[in-house]
Amino acid sequence: MNEEIPNLTAFDEAALDEAFARLERQARAAAAALDNDAAVEAFRLEWLGRKQGRLNEVSGRWLKAAPAEAKKLLGVRFNALKAVVEGLLDAALGAGQDGSWGGAALAAEAIDITLPGTRRLAGAEHPITRTLNEITRVFAALGYSVGVGPEVETDFYNFESMNFPPGHPARDTQDTLVVAGQERRPQRDRLLMRTHTSPVQMRTMEQQPPPVRIVIPGKVHRNDAADATHSPIFHQVEGLCVDTNITFSDLKGTLDHAMKALFGSAVKTRFFPSFFPFTEPSADVQISCIFCGGKGCRKCKQSGWIELLGCGMVDPAVFAFAAEKQPGYDPKKISGFAFGMGVERIAMMKYGVSEIGSFYAGDMRFLSQFA
Ligand code: PHE
Repeated sequence: MNEEIPNLTAFDEAALDEAFARLERQARAAAAALDNDAAVEAFRLEWLGRKQGRLNEVSGRWLKAAPAEAKKLLGVRFNALKAVVEGLLDAALGAGQDGSWGGAALAAEAIDITLPGTRRLAGAEHPITRTLNEITRVFAALGYSVGVGPEVETDFYNFESMNFPPGHPARDTQDTLVVAGQERRPQRDRLLMRTHTSPVQMRTMEQQPPPVRIVIPGKVHRNDAADATHSPIFHQVEGLCVDTNITFSDLKGTLDHAMKALFGSAVKTRFFPSFFPFTEPSADVQISCIFCGGKGCRKCKQSGWIELLGCGMVDPAVFAFAAEKQPGYDPKKISGFAFGMGVERIAMMKYGVSEIGSFYAGDMRFLSQFA
C-alpha cells in the first residue's frame, strides 16, 4: 500500500520536482507489480479514483495550499504525472488483453517490433542528370575535359561571337527571353537566357590557347511552345575540339564512336548537310533507328533513321572572335569541330519516354523507375 500523500511545505521548483518524482516512482513501482485484472482495477481506483484517488488528493491538498505564483508550476507537473499514470494504466490493460503480464511499466516502455520502421528513401539521379553524365563520360574517356558557363548570357557570347550578327535572320531560329530594362546598354552587352551551350565555346577559347577538347553540359532556354517533344527549358551537351589538322573525318569518327557508346555498337550514323552560323560546313547527324534497327517503323517515320544532333567544322569567323583574346586561334594554323546535342531527346530515346514533360513533372511513379 502506498504511503499517504504528505502535506507540501515548500512550493519552489526543486521541492515540486522532488515531490512529483517521488509520486511517479511509486506509481511505476505499483504498475510494475500488476499481474491480474483485479490488481489493475485496484491500481486505477487508487490513483485515478474520482473521490479517493491519490491524484485527486494531490490536487485537493497541494493545489489548494499552493501560493498563487506556484499554482502554474504545480499544475504543469500535476498534468504530467497524470499522463504517466494514465499511460501505465493503458499499458496494464493492454497487457491484460494480450496475456503478456510481466509488469505494466515494462509494457509501457516496450517497442512493438512488428510495426513497420521509418524507411529512408535513397535518392537517385534524375534521368536527365543521368543521361547528361553518361554523355559527358563518353567524351571524358576520349580525353575531353568538362566545362560550364552562365545560363544568363550576353548577346555577344550567345549570338554575335557565334557569328549571328545583329539583325541576322538566323537569330529568329533561337528566340528567347531577354532581361528587361537594358535598352541603354550596347546590344552586345544585353543579357538574355542562353539559347544554346555554344557560347561556352567562345568563353573556353578566350580562357585557353589551343589545343582544346571540352564538353559542356547545361541548361538552355528558348521561346518555343511546349509539346510532347519540346520544352522551352531543356538541356544540351556541347562539344568543342580544336587542334592542328582537325578534319571532318575526326568529327565523323568521334561522333560515330559516341553514338555507339550511347546506343550500342550496332548503331550506324550518317551526316546530312545542314546550317549553323558558327560551323562551316555544318551537318545534322542521324543514327539508324534504335527501335527497328533501320528497317522502318512508326518511331522513325518509316525512314530507318533518327536525327539526333547538330555539328560542323568551326567557322573561321568564330576563330576570329577568339583570336581577339587568344592569338593562337589563327584559322590558318588550326582547325576544329563542334557539336551540340539535346539531352532530353537522347534520354527519351534511351528510356522510351514519349512525353518530354514527364521529366519535369516530379511524379515519383515516373521517377522511381530510374532509381
Ligand atoms: N548550338 C546548336 C543548337 O543549339 C547545336 C550545335 C552545336 C550545332 C555545335 C553545331 C555545332 O542547335
